[in-house]
Amino acid sequence: MDEQFLVLLIDDNPINAQVLEGYMAGLPVKIITARNGLEGLNLARKHLPDVILLDVLMPGLNGFEVCDEIRFNPITGNIPVIFVTSSEEIKKDILSQPHSLPDGLLFKPINKTDLLIHIRSLMRLSATRSKMQQEIDYLQNYCRRLETTASSSLEGLSKTEEMSILLLANLAEARDPSTGEHIHRISKYARLLSEQLLRISPDLQQYITDSYIDSLVMAAQLHDIGKVGIPDNILNKPGRYTSKEMQIMKEHVIIGGRILNSAISLYGEKSFLSMGMKIAMYHHERYDGTGYCEGLTAQSIPLCARIIALADVYDAMRSKRIYKQAMSHDDVRKYIADDKGKYFDPLVVESFFNFEDEFKNIFDQTSV
Ligand SMILES: [Fe+2]
Repeated sequence: MDEQFLVLLIDDNPINAQVLEGYMAGLPVKIITARNGLEGLNLARKHLPDVILLDVLMPGLNGFEVCDEIRFNPITGNIPVIFVTSSEEIKKDILSQPHSLPDGLLFKPINKTDLLIHIRSLMRLSATRSKMQQEIDYLQNYCRRLETTASSSLEGLSKTEEMSILLLANLAEARDPSTGEHIHRISKYARLLSEQLLRISPDLQQYITDSYIDSLVMAAQLHDIGKVGIPDNILNKPGRYTSKEMQIMKEHVIIGGRILNSAISLYGEKSFLSMGMKIAMYHHERYDGTGYCEGLTAQSIPLCARIIALADVYDAMRSKRIYKQAMSHDDVRKYIADDKGKYFDPLVVESFFNFEDEFKNIFDQTSV
């Protein structure tokens, strides 16, 4: 655990703050306190705490208003906020008012166990994020070093970019043992699907160029890069996910987007990394709008992500994982056919059915 884990208590009642401080006395945390919302906001901006325990009913700025300010400020926007309140009514208010949602809720009198579970969980998350940041920093430094020696090509991707994508892909692969050959097969499916899309819909020529396909094949490997930020106990859990675990798992698309956004700052928007970011963020969107992270529908989902969505699902369903058995090609093709226009873009499904035998061969040749 990080000894510098910083907790900010914002509560107008010093006795309540003392109680919370007392409960956390055995944890390796540093605690700072504020007596009102304004002071709390100043401390949050100045110290960037790892979590804010926020009293809701306070004179001056109340907890909802403080939470809004924290969320809307890009400097503090990602800091977890836990509401602390004695009012059960707050549950209704949270859902009915147009305010930012907190990340947790604790009721007074505070139960020590509940508090410690929240704090320990956030400490683990913070440690994972630090580790991830270290990996990103290492990667960025490595790429900068490569940039000084690698030659770039006007027509194709630079060596630096090729190296960086392999490093990024391997980073994700190392965290999730089930992704080994998976990410390489996804690239192969992506090429087949995009080439076939061009044949059945020549209008797509304006989008699907040779360089688009080259970028897609490489960017496809990044679709699950965000899994580097998911805790091991969830990523490698043998059983089914609880709804809370599922929520955490879904965050891999947001994390992936952030990682690649960071990489884009090195190479610029024209890089295939831009496509990788779209794929990482939107490969779990569904054509009918029931997917995540944004619930996009139909053409509003980037084409590259619609292609990878089908490739990813096909391969995942055919693969044996620690929590499920593998499905046959025939069962998966039936699933894909049933979800045409629901989960999947109808055109992408059509492309799949035009050469499904090749899909099957790619899987059968590389799976164990
Ligand atoms: Fe994913």
